[in-house]
Amino acid sequence: MMVSEKHSRSEALMALEDLYGAHNYHPVPVVIERAEGALMWDVEGRQYFDFLSAYSAVNQGHCHPRIIKALTEQASKLTLTSRAFHNNVLGEYARYITEYFGYERMLPMNSGVEACETAVKLARRWGYDVKGIPQDQARVIFVEGNFWGRSIAAVSASTDPSSFSGFGPFVPGFELIPYNDIPALEKALLDPNVAAFMCEPIQGEAGVVIPDDGYLTRVRELCTQHNVLWIADEVQTGIARTGKLLAVDHENVRPDLLVLGKALSGGVYPVSCVLGSSEVLLTIKPGEHGSTFGGNPLACAVAMEALAVVKDEELADNAERMGKILRQRLVEIESSRINAVRGKGLLNAIDIRTKNGVSAWDICIKLKDKGLLAKPTHDTIIRLAPPLVISEEQVHAAADIIRDVILSFDRA
Ligand SMILES: Cc1ncc(COP(=O)(O)O)c(C=O)c1O
Repeated sequence: MMVSEKHSRSEALMALEDLYGAHNYHPVPVVIERAEGALMWDVEGRQYFDFLSAYSAVNQGHCHPRIIKALTEQASKLTLTSRAFHNNVLGEYARYITEYFGYERMLPMNSGVEACETAVKLARRWGYDVKGIPQDQARVIFVEGNFWGRSIAAVSASTDPSSFSGFGPFVPGFELIPYNDIPALEKALLDPNVAAFMCEPIQGEAGVVIPDDGYLTRVRELCTQHNVLWIADEVQTGIARTGKLLAVDHENVRPDLLVLGKALSGGVYPVSCVLGSSEVLLTIKPGEHGSTFGGNPLACAVAMEALAVVKDEELADNAERMGKILRQRLVEIESSRINAVRGKGLLNAIDIRTKNGVSAWDICIKLKDKGLLAKPTHDTIIRLAPPLVISEEQVHAAADIIRDVILSFDRA
């Protein structure tokens, strides 16, 4: 498409991305200019419900005034020192977040993938220095359907061909077992060179896949029994998204390493971290790991406020209550197109039965036309994950849109 006066502003802006950007995404064709709470507006002024929350980064709602205030106040004082020098916010933040989640220490990074990779590095180092695994023999076990980003290490652990195809050779020492499969984990853990087992407590990108009750409890027991670190990737599920502060809280279990990102900043800035014990986090010595921006004062100020908002506004409780109402409304839709509705808190999905050439993508396009933005994951799953500040009235209004759109395909 050419950029010309004849096209709408949206079309012109999409054309610019298309012309000058890499084509590594396939966005829903809408150009957002402004957002507040659970709502977004495009460049033509049309209003939408946000039912993606930037892949669960905007749990606290768009442009939360307290988080924006923390951002702008800090931005006008000090943004970055690198870790070559101390800054006056990092120590305060480290104390705040470790007390908040009940861990001894934290290691700050920026994106989710960096924090996940940091956890894997920590596990390997702990494997050699503490567990006594012979040099370069450490193994990390992942589960099929995992998603933890796009780096070479992350795609080395992936079972999704669109993530890994054409990017080899891959990182060695990674092993895959099926998700939600305790016998497979029992077998894999027999290898004494296993340093860690990493999984999401609910698989987000795989399509909101919820393991059986008791799975996480058994994971905890087995990892303890075999002296293996359990890494919980809560980049998507953490920070109130599933109706508890952490998804592992549904079973009252505690991973050895907790990986957080996304909503750690309320979606205003990339902030991630790994939380864990001194025994594990102190295995990495000065100069052995880091990031220019990791632990910068802007990130620290934003993250403290973003976490405070989650507690002060009781967002986990709201996610739990609104999630129940949303799922109830979705299961009431009488359509042969819906295979299943599942979710916890406000991390939900509709599994679509593709019929007569109508895919989850087609449904998302029509949802957009009716004022609700969602994105399919895989061909048949629509994730429904609004900001956790959504009100009951907004959930009902959004559910009306979803019902009407799905039923309109039945009539077509
Ligand atoms: C569970 C999980 N881990 C890690 C990541 C990677 O986070 P980022 O995109 O910030 O690198 C994602 C991103 O969607 C994720 O869902």
